[in-house]
Amino acid sequence: MFELVRYLKERASLVERSLAAAVPQSEGPSARLDEAMRYSLLDGGKRLRPILALASCEAVGGALDDALAFACALEMIHTYSLIHDDLPCMDDDDLRRGRPTNHKVYGEALATLAGDALLTDAFGVLARSPLARRAPALVAETVAELSEAAGSRGMVAGQVIDLLGEGRAMELGELEYLHGRKTGALFLAAVRGGARLGGASAAQMESLTVYAKALGLCFQVVDDLLDVEASTEQMGKRTGKDQAHGKNTYPGLLGLKRSREFANELSARAAGALSGFDERAEPLRALAGFVVERKL
Ligand code: IPE
Ligand code: IPE
Ligand code: MG
Ligand code: MG
Ligand code: MG
Repeated sequence: MFELVRYLKERASLVERSLAAAVPQSEGPSARLDEAMRYSLLDGGKRLRPILALASCEAVGGALDDALAFACALEMIHTYSLIHDDLPCMDDDDLRRGRPTNHKVYGEALATLAGDALLTDAFGVLARSPLARRAPALVAETVAELSEAAGSRGMVAGQVIDLLGEGRAMELGELEYLHGRKTGALFLAAVRGGARLGGASAAQMESLTVYAKALGLCFQVVDDLLDVEASTEQMGKRTGKDQAHGKNTYPGLLGLKRSREFANELSARAAGALSGFDERAEPLRALAGFVVERKL
């Protein structure tokens, strides 16, 4: 049987070694900035987006090495989004990945700039990857999709809708749109990018798109559920805050039971999209279960 726990640990440490090399600690004027970037980037976190990218590359028979720089870029962008999400002008959180948030340690200005730097450098990491020389068109397409997923039509748009929607109850369609952007977009880019760099066919890309859309939405529905059901100690971030902030969430709109059912449905939809894949998609199948069962 496929051992997901071991797989996640091995892949996370592979990603973490590459991240440490991608964002080195310098001496001199930028030392404090590097420290702030590395503080949020290198410790903790499930590394789910990079792991999904690597698993998608593998699922289509690609070589892990070809997706590693992309995996790092994803985690750098994700980490920037967390640093900014926690700022006082956004969700105003003081705990992340079991430690004080970036701005609590480095101050708001440096935290903002550390996020800016992680976002910007992520694209450099991808553009300088070995594959960019061998298959520039493939990498350019990946860059285009990643910037769309992270930018004004993707995650940033989702964050804006999330913040402007505080205190105003959304309808279901609007909420799905919000979650699809603030969280789903990066999941979609991770899966499609990993698969593309691994040489996926058009049909494989189509199935993996269905997989990733269901998985990304599932992930955020569960994040909403855990905010209600889990403890701060368990999550390493403050829970019970969504309602206090007037956030639009699935439990807020559908209640706990129906939200849990919906998350299970989405997980099954994701797994079902992989029916045409062989055993190389086993990690992706297991991840569809993990996202809905996770306690962290
Ligand atoms: C948290 O993401 C932010 C959301 C999109 C819900 P993760 O739960 O993947 O956070 P880390 O990377 O494991 O800390
Ligand atoms: C964050 O959503 C999505 C991002 C783009 C960072 P949340 O605000 O729900 O994430 P948490 O709960 O703080 O991790
Ligand atoms: Mg938020
Ligand atoms: Mg938040
Ligand atoms: Mg949340």
